[in-house]
Amino acid sequence: MIGTKVTIVGAGNVGSQTASIIAEKNLADIVLVDIDEGIAKGKALDILEAAPLNASKASVIGTSTYEETADSEIVIVTAGVPRKPGMSRDDLIEINANILKSVIPEVTKYSPGCILIIVTNPLDAMVYLAKKLSDFPRSRIMGMAGILDSTRMRTFISDALKVAPSDTEAMVLGGHGDTMVPIVSRTKVSGKPLVDFMGEEEIAKIIERTRNGGAEIVNYLKKGSAYYATGASIYEMVEAILKDTKKTLPCCAQLAGEYGQEGLFIGVPVVLGKDGMEKIIEIPLTNEEQAMFDKTVSHVKSLYGKVDEL
Ligand code: APR
Repeated sequence: MIGTKVTIVGAGNVGSQTASIIAEKNLADIVLVDIDEGIAKGKALDILEAAPLNASKASVIGTSTYEETADSEIVIVTAGVPRKPGMSRDDLIEINANILKSVIPEVTKYSPGCILIIVTNPLDAMVYLAKKLSDFPRSRIMGMAGILDSTRMRTFISDALKVAPSDTEAMVLGGHGDTMVPIVSRTKVSGKPLVDFMGEEEIAKIIERTRNGGAEIVNYLKKGSAYYATGASIYEMVEAILKDTKKTLPCCAQLAGEYGQEGLFIGVPVVLGKDGMEKIIEIPLTNEEQAMFDKTVSHVKSLYGKVDEL
């Protein structure tokens, strides 16, 4: 037992990978919830059986009901269907909205004070729906996407330049999909701007690959979508909150005037700490980046109508 409880709803690929990292790093006790009780219990037991090897004290429980999730500090929602080759994340909107409609009321009933992290796609629309269902303050409801898009971009840069992945910096903002906005002016290698290392054409290729990063993996896997880097990205958020690091990470958060938007949930740099989303950082955008940001805002807003109809 660690004494800090994190619930993960959805014990599929993303949920179980996230649970495995949290347990391995000894960060929190975990309750894995899945509509399929066997999956939840089996994955929980498998993760727990690694504890003697990685000196973890985390308790890991699997269940199909919500009683044991009571008073979780963080609830991560990964319940939902992943896309298949040829599908966009937006194609999942109806099926995953219905899943969230059954999940969120249970989560908020048992953990009314938790910090909610949504991972189910289409991400920005699902965070908006979760806000409608929970009415949580914006500090306690967020989505994970920008960290994943940014770590993908960093990987492609480090690979192209043959530099350590950890020496790269990237910041991908906006919606989690084809309109995401990699902020090239903030992309650095060993502290120097990326433009000092690469020409426009090479940068454009990296941006394109980043935008298609999820689809590239879906096409290889044929069944299911990415989950290793996804789990590591969720872990970044959970660690920043539970350890109160105040780290700035790109997350889907609700804007209240920042970036000229009111009420919209979209990927922006966020300071994460014990209170959840503690601050949104407004970074200056170049004209080109602003134009891309306006486009992603319109796209995300266009999904709200669909969510409202469902
Ligand atoms: N309540 C709880 N769990 C549910 C529910 C529900 N109502 N509906 C489905 N699930 C569970 C499934 O039983 C399954 O175990 O959600 C799990 C999803 O796991 P996977 O199919 O492996 O999907 P995964 O790759 O984990 O992706 C989940 O995260 O990244 C996003 O696009 C991805 O929307 C998808 C979500």
